This record gives sequence, C-alpha cells and structure tokens, in this order.
Amino acid sequence: MVRPQGQVHAGLIRGPDQRKSGRDPEASNVLADSVVVSVCNPSGMGDPGWALCYSCTLAGVPLLHQPTFETARLILRPLKPSDATSIQTEASAREIADTMISLPHPYPASEAERYLDEQRSLREQGRGVAFAIVTKAENRFCGLVEVRDIDREHSQAELSFWLAPKLWGQGCMSEAVQAALRYGFDELGLNRLYAYHMERNPASGRVLEKNGFRREGLLRQRVRKWDRYEDVVLWAIVRSDQAS
Ligand SMILES: CC(C)(COP(=O)(O)OP(=O)(O)OC[C@H]1O[C@@H](n2cnc3c(N)ncnc32)[C@H](O)[C@@H]1OP(=O)(O)O)[C@@H](O)C(=O)NCCC(=O)NCCS
Repeated sequence: MVRPQGQVHAGLIRGPDQRKSGRDPEASNVLADSVVVSVCNPSGMGDPGWALCYSCTLAGVPLLHQPTFETARLILRPLKPSDATSIQTEASAREIADTMISLPHPYPASEAERYLDEQRSLREQGRGVAFAIVTKAENRFCGLVEVRDIDREHSQAELSFWLAPKLWGQGCMSEAVQAALRYGFDELGLNRLYAYHMERNPASGRVLEKNGFRREGLLRQRVRKWDRYEDVVLWAIVRSDQAS
C-alpha cells in the first residue's frame, strides 16, 4: 500500500528521542512560537531511529518523515508540484542568485520542474529534504530551506536557504532556520548541521549566528561566482550546542 504524498493521518510517530507518541493525526510539539503538524510522506527511508509513521510502518512503507512547521509568520511544508511556477518566478531574482553558491542565473526555463524532480528523488533516497517557505498571512510561497547532503554515517547535513527579496530584513529566515534546525535535530536525529555562505554575504552568517551556529572557518577562494573566486565561510551547530 502506498500512501499519497502529503497525506495527514493518524499514527504513532517514532523519533530518535521518542518525543512524539499517540494517535493524534496532528501530534504536535511546540517551538518558541511554533507548532509542528505531522504529515506523512513516504520516501523510502527505513533506518531505525528515523521518524516513521506507525500506519505507514504497518503498511510496509518506509519513509523519511517530513512534518509541516508553523512559526509565528511562516509555514514550512513539503514541496508540491504546484510550487513550480512560484519557484521559477522567485528563484529568477538576480539578488538571490548573487549570493547563492550554486543557483543558476538566468534561471533556465523549466528549471523549477527539474528541481522538484531532483528533490523528490533525493528525498526518496533519504539524501535531502526541502521545505517550501510560505507566508501565513497570504499563503504565498516565498523561499526554500534545504536539509541536504544527509550523511547518516556521521549524522550530519548541510543547511541551505533563500528568501524572496521583498521579505529580507524582517527576521523571516531566522524564523525558518529555527524550524529547520528542529527538523534536523529532532526529526532526523542529526548531531551536526553546517552551512556555507560567501564572505561578502554577512546577512546569511547573521541568520546562522542568531540560531546558535558557530563560525568554524574561512575557505579561501572556495567557489567561483560570476567569474570571480569567492571566499566562503563555514558555520556549524552540533546537538550539544543547543543545551548551552
Ligand atoms: C541571507 C538571507 C536568507 C537573509 O534572510 P532575512 O530574512 O533577510 O534574514 P533575517 O532578517 O532573519 O536576518 C538577517 C540578519 O542579517 C543582518 N544583516 C543584513 N545585512 C547585513 C550586512 N550587510 N552586514 C551585517 N549584517 C547584516 C540583519 O540586520 C539581520 O540581523 P539582526 O536581526 O541581528 O538585525 C536573504 O537575504 C537571502 O535569501 N539572500 C539570498 C540568498 C542567500 O544568500 N542565501 C544564503 C546562502 S547560504
């Protein structure tokens, strides 16, 4: 039995910390200003310790659990095919591409569909999960957060994100990253999340710093952007940092 993606249903949610249990289809937990709503999305993951929905487990469907997060102003939810138009429009902004290490610009026609296919495949392999960021007030797509390069051997993954320029400077990405960290640590049971940004993009570093990341180093001329070599800053947060 294969459940349709994104279906909300009842079940015991097994997580690494046994945090959620019960048969409430909206088994929730509370962040500061945030609520997690459980949404089951079969994806091919079946390792012990990864959050599995009980009813999917019973049905023999392994999955990488991807909840929907609600913060004060945003919703972070799994991607859906209908996001293609919004992704195509927003990701085409040069301001976003300018500080993204690997976002094509001009954004090619049909790139959003290719991206959605790629993300579906990565999720099915348990290698990465992307969240659409949607404004609560207007229910409008405004960006993406990815937990990518999931490395189960070393229990770590990379965080990557972008936001539509009209929302910059209002604390939105800091809010979204807070939810993404909860996902990485509590749902995926990771020990370490890391992120890179170009040194000339301090706003990104500040988002990470505000969320408890520590600067780990400078990678000189690590990437080539617009035909120029750029220094890249590496930040990371480990599980034990959260308690301090
Ligand atoms: C980087 C980005 C995600 C920030 O999103 P945002 O919602 O504006 O971020 P927030 O408002 O939560 O926080 C930004 C912080 O950076 C600070 N900041 C902004 N510009 C800055 C600058 N030039 N120097 C230092 N700090 C700066 C802001 O003051 C704020 O910190 P504060 O809350 O202490 O005042 C957004 O600009 C973006 O999507 N850029 C393009 C894509 C990108 O660079 N992604 C990251 C690649 S890893």
